[in-house]
Amino acid sequence: MFDERDYEYVVTAAGRVNIIGEHVDYCGGKVFPAALSLRNAVYVRRNGTDRINISFTDIPDKVSLPIDDLESGKSLKYGNYQAGSALMWKNAGHKLVGCDMVQDCTVPFGSGLSSSAAIEVSTIAALAVIAGEEFDPVEVALLAQKAEREYAGVNCGIMDQYASACGKKNCAILLDCKTLEREYVPLELGEYTLVIADCKKPHSLVESKYNERRAQTEEALKALAPVTGATCLAEVTPVQLEEHKGLLSEVVYLRAKHVVEECERVHLAAEAMKRGDIRELGKLLNASHASLRDLYEVTGKELDALASAAQSHPACLGSRMTGAGFGGCTVSIVKADAVEDFRRKVGEAYERATGYHAKFYDSSVSDGITVTKIEK
Ligand code: GLA
Repeated sequence: MFDERDYEYVVTAAGRVNIIGEHVDYCGGKVFPAALSLRNAVYVRRNGTDRINISFTDIPDKVSLPIDDLESGKSLKYGNYQAGSALMWKNAGHKLVGCDMVQDCTVPFGSGLSSSAAIEVSTIAALAVIAGEEFDPVEVALLAQKAEREYAGVNCGIMDQYASACGKKNCAILLDCKTLEREYVPLELGEYTLVIADCKKPHSLVESKYNERRAQTEEALKALAPVTGATCLAEVTPVQLEEHKGLLSEVVYLRAKHVVEECERVHLAAEAMKRGDIRELGKLLNASHASLRDLYEVTGKELDALASAAQSHPACLGSRMTGAGFGGCTVSIVKADAVEDFRRKVGEAYERATGYHAKFYDSSVSDGITVTKIEK
């Protein structure tokens, strides 16, 4: 055990759940995520050396990264996200000082709740704080995304890192991924609440399938841009897509159809939440899942079984996969006083269908980055 009083600051960043707007951030669409109380905490102190030393509360590995050779962290199993984040922060012209960090992550790994974004964002913010630098959470998010893309090799959009850095307690973020304009929408669900469930299927090939989907949307834009004038796929309307579908292969058309229709659902979902129409929000969640299953093909049998068990529960207004897919979590809108029954019945039905034991997380909607000076 470490004693947190041996450290100067604790800097945290959030995991996230995406309510709706899946696989549209890298197409310039709007997304609707929220930051979670599941998060990565970094306890940090200066060490007067030219190294960043990292230990973890939940694994025995220890990592020591030379500040002038952060590339060397690339092959690490644990510590590579931190190394990539430090490198991007440094390459952007910021000061790095030698420090010791203890990393304590409560975002479950591989769950689709963005543990990697929480690690990247909190690491950069901790490095800034310990060097005495002010930081802009949006810049931190952008550099964390760069670390994920250029260091970890996942060609991700901006949603996860943005939510992790800029989230706000009890609010969802309506984020325009093209302009980075944002609107905080109070997460007011009346007598309903969000329930996050993990299908617990081991992830496989997520990165390669993710990058493949992204390439397909780029192919769609390449064909559609000259005839529509769109600068990103999210700007193509469903009518334009139908008009020009002949320019696309069948599979690329299906991917593009998901993107343009999902963008419309995000708009409708934010409006529904603002006027308190939670029933409508639930229907949009169900439609999003169906589209991710049938058109984008990123759900898989386990997420389908979990979403469908949730959707069949009488206290549930809607359920969908959240995050990249291919395993990970669902998010459901459930009547608050029936959550216990929901967990039990959905858990049982899911186990009957797949043999896996779903895990339900207790989490609330929280702030993005937090910085606290540790009192001695
Ligand atoms: C992952 C990526 C995000 C986003 C989602 C799908 O979480 O990191 O940028 O593309 O998948 O919506």
